[in-house]
Amino acid sequence: CAGRFVVALDGPAAAGKGTIARALAARFGFAHLDTGLLYRAVGRKALAAGGGAIRPEDAIRAARALRAEDLQAPGLRDPQVGQAASQAAALPEVRAALLDFQRAFAARPGGAVLDGRDIGTVICPDADVKLFVTASDEVRARRRCAELRAGGAEATFEQVLEDLRRRDARDAAREAAPMKPAPDAVLLDTTKLSIDAAVAQAAALIERKCAGRAGGG
Ligand code: CDP
Ligand code: CDP
Repeated sequence: CAGRFVVALDGPAAAGKGTIARALAARFGFAHLDTGLLYRAVGRKALAAGGGAIRPEDAIRAARALRAEDLQAPGLRDPQVGQAASQAAALPEVRAALLDFQRAFAARPGGAVLDGRDIGTVICPDADVKLFVTASDEVRARRRCAELRAGGAEATFEQVLEDLRRRDARDAAREAAPMKPAPDAVLLDTTKLSIDAAVAQAAALIERKCAGRAGGG
């Protein structure tokens, strides 16, 4: 696929967006941006500033001052940072502060894949391929639980399930760029799919679109 090409991957927590996005980036030579990391970095800074509570002014200040090195900070994958990210992400000022960076990333000449909640709806409404990745709550919680344990954290299935459900409910219900499939997104349910099978389905969509473009269609 020559030239600009944008792949948008959205969906609920731990559906497999990042894993699929990384594999597609490697396969097609696209740059990859995990946009959730931006919100996690904001949430982490706001949590520290608020002494464990999320105050809108702290979150907005953190989003406006965000720097590349903040995305390397430790603890970004902690569940409490995920909840803080979700609270901060509901603020329109926070989302506005992160918009230009994401759009500029998507405009890279060699192509880009972005994963998040509002890529196909708000950040890149003209994306070449849009996928809404889902899986059952239980399967997502099981996968995230295994991931956290592999990272050395203590996590119970019930805690993780509750954490994902709370975040998904907040992300879907907010007024500012709620999590929802774009009208032209393809649904990819990974409940019963291996990573390889999910990547193969996504890659097939990209190849079809590239072939259509090469043929002038
Ligand atoms: O980015 P997102 O939160 O949507 O999910 P992820 O971090 O890519 O995936 C969560 C976990 O599920 C990871 O440990 C993946 O390896 C695993 N996974 C899986 O087991 N089967 C899939 N089809 C996709 C992801
Ligand atoms: O990896 P996981 O799917 O658990 O979460 P994430 O993608 O790292 O996102 C963390 C939080 O950031 C989400 O629960 C959303 O509240 C927020 N987010 C968002 O609002 N918009 C995005 N494009 C990406 C993340």
